[in-house]
Amino acid sequence: MPVFHALEHAPLAVKPALHALEHASFAVEAAPHAQECAAHALEPVPFTDPCVRRYDMSSFMSCCHGYDLIEGHESVFSVDVPALTFGPGVLFEAGEQLRSLGCRRVALFTDAAVAQLPPVEAALASVRAAGLDVAVYDEVHVEPTDASFRAAAAFARAGAFDGYLSVGGGSVIDTCKAAVLYATHPADLLAYVNAPIGAGRPVPGPLPPHVACPTTCGTGSECTGIAVFDYVERKAKTGIASRRLRPTLALVDPTATRSLPAMVVAASGFDVLCHALESYTARPFTARPRPDGPAARPMSQGRNPWSDVGAMESLRLAGRYLVRAVRDASDEEARQGLSWAATLAGIAFGNAGVHLPHAMSYSVAGLVRDYRAPGYPQDEPLVPHGISVVVNAPSVFRATAATSPERHLAAAGALGADVKGAGPEDAAEVLSRTLLDAMRATGVPLGVGAVGYAEGDVDALARGAILQKRLVDNAPMAVDDEAMRALFRGAMGYAPVSTARPASMPGSTRPPST
Ligand SMILES: NC(=O)c1ccc[n+]([C@@H]2O[C@H](COP(=O)([O-])OP(=O)(O)OC[C@H]3O[C@@H](n4cnc5c(N)ncnc54)[C@H](O)[C@@H]3O)[C@@H](O)[C@H]2O)c1
Ligand SMILES: [Zn+2]
Repeated sequence: MPVFHALEHAPLAVKPALHALEHASFAVEAAPHAQECAAHALEPVPFTDPCVRRYDMSSFMSCCHGYDLIEGHESVFSVDVPALTFGPGVLFEAGEQLRSLGCRRVALFTDAAVAQLPPVEAALASVRAAGLDVAVYDEVHVEPTDASFRAAAAFARAGAFDGYLSVGGGSVIDTCKAAVLYATHPADLLAYVNAPIGAGRPVPGPLPPHVACPTTCGTGSECTGIAVFDYVERKAKTGIASRRLRPTLALVDPTATRSLPAMVVAASGFDVLCHALESYTARPFTARPRPDGPAARPMSQGRNPWSDVGAMESLRLAGRYLVRAVRDASDEEARQGLSWAATLAGIAFGNAGVHLPHAMSYSVAGLVRDYRAPGYPQDEPLVPHGISVVVNAPSVFRATAATSPERHLAAAGALGADVKGAGPEDAAEVLSRTLLDAMRATGVPLGVGAVGYAEGDVDALARGAILQKRLVDNAPMAVDDEAMRALFRGAMGYAPVSTARPASMPGSTRPPST
């Protein structure tokens, strides 16, 4: 079996002191391990464009990171690291953290269900103990809409708050991001929304402090500068993306996930897994044309050596803990492991960006007819975000495996699959089988057909997905209308029982709890 470069060089843990790296831009000559590698002993080679290239970077990068540089294309990647504090009990620090950020009057955002649970009680107690004024907004819509974003922004504007606290899942954290943005820089909702659906206007200035506390495991939204909503009139999900939206501080308390229903753990856990897989297999940052300057460098840069670190470790943790965390609510180790995986995947995809499974998910969720998931509000149809993503994933990774078989196999190996003796030609089958085994073990819908669609919907689904230009462009292969339709046809349904030899995720062998 070949020894894969990506595995060889992927560190298994994120080093401490991440804050020191915040907003660092890594020109390749700044790589810290340059002296340890024989190729880096090379003398600087003069280039015709001395401002841009001082070293023979092609040997440099392909040696150390598996990224080959292309003339005229990007040679630099940025590291935007969120400030975060992780661990059981950290929710009780919310008030003190907000006070030290200079806040006096705080809005706490949550949804109606989470408002009744211990995490909100803990956060409120801590804010009051810190002597801050607090007003609670518990009307966040699960899977936010344009209308629910507007309502939250109106609350924020009217309250004259100087700080924000979000306690909930991705729906709550995203709604709080939007409320902070529109209360601070009022504009029509579509002004900051990604083109082509919105005008894609940049966020004009800084935002007040926002401390984000996730209670699912999870979207990683506490680490990203993205806020997603359902644009009801267009039957499409879309979002706002800006570094300025990233919460000032994330407090990730894994005990907040104790009360999560199994299907919410499964949906948010597969969201984590797909964030990591998509970041790890995205178009490389070196494939983008070189930007005119640092301001033109996008937040979603494509896969890069930094996102590889978080993605790989997140896959390893998801492989070990996802199935366990779904099956047994008392398995604290599994829920804690999955929470850390969510945070790492959030860091990875916040830097690299996701691609096709997410692009497709936006129409799977947006065009919903009558699907309702257990564990979620039943008053209206809804395909939970993580489900709307993972139903596409086996079909997508079968198609993308040929673009980097070694990465697809490395990802399957990190998830726990036996990849001994597997070659590049096996990558598509091994990774999709690993995903399907985990989907079967957790009881999530097996394909787009299982959430209410049929062959006759393929055109509409593909039309919605191709609109997600930022995500489609971040895929490792070009995808046109016909290719998108083929991906949806491939995702329509998967066999309920594996016909191949069992692979994969070790947790799937643990018996369900009673
Ligand atoms: N901004 C980003 O970077 C990003 C990334 C991924 C997903 N998202 C978005 O996040 C949303 C999905 O978020 P999510 O998966 O975290 O779920 P969610 O916030 O939609 O919540 C799902 C359900 O779980 C309940 N819930 C939440 N925490 C609970 C707890 N501790 N105990 C019991 N019930 C609890 C909620 O009330 C809700 O009914 C989607 O809108 C998706 O598009 C955003
Ligand atoms: Zn997601």
